[in-house]
Amino acid sequence: MKKKMFLLVPFLLASTLFFCFATFVFGAAVLPDDEVEALRGIAKSLGKTDWNFSVDPCSGDSGWFYRAEGSKENDLTCDCSSSNGTVCHVVSIILKGQNLAGTLPPNFAGLPYLQQIDLTRNYLNGSIPPGWGSSPQLVNISLLGNRLTGSIPKELANITTLKSFTVEFNQLSGNLPPELGHMPSIERLLLSSNYFTGELPNSFAGLITLNDLRISDLIGSGETFPRLDNLTQLKTLILRSCNITGQLPKYLGDRTKLQNLLRSQL
Ligand SMILES: *[C@@H]1O[C@H](CO)[C@@H](O)[C@H](O)[C@H]1NC(C)=O
Ligand SMILES: *[C@@H]1O[C@H](CO)[C@@H](O)[C@H](O)[C@H]1NC(C)=O
Ligand SMILES: *[C@@H]1O[C@H](CO)[C@@H](O)[C@H](O)[C@H]1NC(C)=O
Ligand SMILES: *[C@@H]1O[C@H](CO)[C@@H](O)[C@H](O)[C@H]1NC(C)=O
Ligand SMILES: *[C@@H]1O[C@H](CO)[C@@H](O)[C@H](O)[C@H]1NC(C)=O
Repeated sequence: MKKKMFLLVPFLLASTLFFCFATFVFGAAVLPDDEVEALRGIAKSLGKTDWNFSVDPCSGDSGWFYRAEGSKENDLTCDCSSSNGTVCHVVSIILKGQNLAGTLPPNFAGLPYLQQIDLTRNYLNGSIPPGWGSSPQLVNISLLGNRLTGSIPKELANITTLKSFTVEFNQLSGNLPPELGHMPSIERLLLSSNYFTGELPNSFAGLITLNDLRISDLIGSGETFPRLDNLTQLKTLILRSCNITGQLPKYLGDRTKLQNLLRSQL
């Protein structure tokens, strides 16, 4: 019996060494523990139950990835090129049309490389957490078609890399924060079909990188509507039910570059 034990120990040691060696040699890149923990927190918050944590999240297996079927999409993407291909980082999470009925995670603190979060067409409720503003590397955020309430947190304007922010078809309310007009990279700002109130902030006149602006149900007026002359990239402007009294500012109609100007029920 004792002899067997002696034999077993070197065997275990040898196999452990071999395993480490194999991992090193074949360069199986790993997702750091704090990113795995962050994914657990996100799954709990959203009500996502089919991510299998016994399997490497970057493997593209077991609930981490499946091809889009209809409007359903499930895709977690990692970048595994760090440190000569030995470390992975989560860069994109797409969970579309999955009937998720939880709330948005308070932040992405454990995912410092996340660039894209797309939670289009679920049943997520609660509000957009101000903590999202502490992820200064986010590029695309889509929350289209959920049941979100509350206002847009001004902290989001701190995401200087943000190019696309889509919250259409929710139940958001309140005034649009003037801080949104200071986002240096924003290209698409899609805000229609919510319950926002007040006017379009004057600061929006400075969104020179914007090419698509969609909004509805604002009060506004022909005179106080911010001049958008400097928005030379603007191709689509949709102002639905915005109650702009009198004429739409003439310079908007004069814009020859504007391909798509929709202004029903002004
Ligand atoms: C998770 O993955 C492991 C390893 O492939 C598998 O044995 C287990 O059945 C999976 N669990 C679920 C719930 O799919
Ligand atoms: C990556 O590999 C190259 C060549 O093998 C080496 O010179 C370099 O120091 C490595 N870099 C890191 C970050 O490990
Ligand atoms: C952001 O979204 C656009 C449009 O879908 C896509 O082309 C781009 O690759 C996305 N960027 C990132 C960093 O995910
Ligand atoms: C979100 O929906 C759940 C039921 O799905 C409900 O219990 C909860 O009160 C809702 N939260 C908010 C903030 O509306
Ligand atoms: C934005 O970031 C700056 C520092 O970069 C910080 O001082 C400020 O409080 C942040 N604003 C918000 C609204 O989070």
